[in-house]
Amino acid sequence: MSLLEVTNLTKTFGGLTANQDVTMNVEKGSITAVIGPNGAGKTTFFNMITGVYQPTSGGIALEGKSLVRLKPHEVSKRGIARTFQNIRLFAEMSVIENVLVGMHTHLQAGLFSILMNLRKTKKEELEAERLAYRLLEYFDLASLLNEKACNLSYGAQRKLEIARALATKPKLILLDEPAAGMNPKETKELTDIIKKMKHEFDVTILLIEHDMKLVMEISEHIVVLDHGVKIAEGNPEDIRTNPKVIEAYLGSGAIHAM
Ligand SMILES: Nc1ncnc2c1ncn2[C@@H]1O[C@H](COP(=O)(O)OP(=O)(O)OP(=O)(O)O)[C@@H](O)[C@H]1O
Ligand SMILES: [Mg+2]
Repeated sequence: MSLLEVTNLTKTFGGLTANQDVTMNVEKGSITAVIGPNGAGKTTFFNMITGVYQPTSGGIALEGKSLVRLKPHEVSKRGIARTFQNIRLFAEMSVIENVLVGMHTHLQAGLFSILMNLRKTKKEELEAERLAYRLLEYFDLASLLNEKACNLSYGAQRKLEIARALATKPKLILLDEPAAGMNPKETKELTDIIKKMKHEFDVTILLIEHDMKLVMEISEHIVVLDHGVKIAEGNPEDIRTNPKVIEAYLGSGAIHAM
């Protein structure tokens, strides 16, 4: 069953077509990767799904319901969370605060119910804290929970971003280059974390990544963009041997890791 359905998605910036007629599905419970050379339109694709950009044309639906024209916070409420290619944490806030802040918009209790029903609010807050601890433990960040985010290593900051996104209990999480800037040891650890995450937190994963070893190891389905156009899709073996993909990547170095 498809959780996310994207049909003929197109985005132009002036004369530049960043995505052209991109059609793809993300199966519920899967790990799907979007790959392609620099400037292929991958981040633009995520920005349309998450409501940061409005598509020029085409459709995006989660569980059959259109996301087109929704604002980012409305997309988030529908159950999609994301991380960014450039880390966006609250640098001066602690690790645990970063995770709790991620949750806050999702706590059901509004001001009225806070006043009317303090007990329910308390319960929600306790649950939020419990999930935050569980996430930090899962990402091996629990020993750093009071540390300022800016004092963490790059690899740890990337993990914290994923933890914060998961704190909203999304149905679908979009990861934009989660391994960027990580050393090989951190990348290996992250590979296992992402692989197990889908069961641990019952989440479907769509990721953009240049590290082909990671992509080939964890993806069930891979979509390849080049110059805004989908040039191939299939399982890792299909992609590895696809002549169009090899041509798109020629000279980039990434090909050796496939
Ligand atoms: N807001 C914008 N205004 C104008 N052009 C944009 C905008 N955002 C992206 N683009 C252009 O769209 C194209 C695709 O960019 P995008 O960031 O989606 O690529 P990408 O596949 O994520 O690349 P990378 O692997 O380097 O992150 C590029 O030519 C980029 O310059
Ligand atoms: Mg990008």
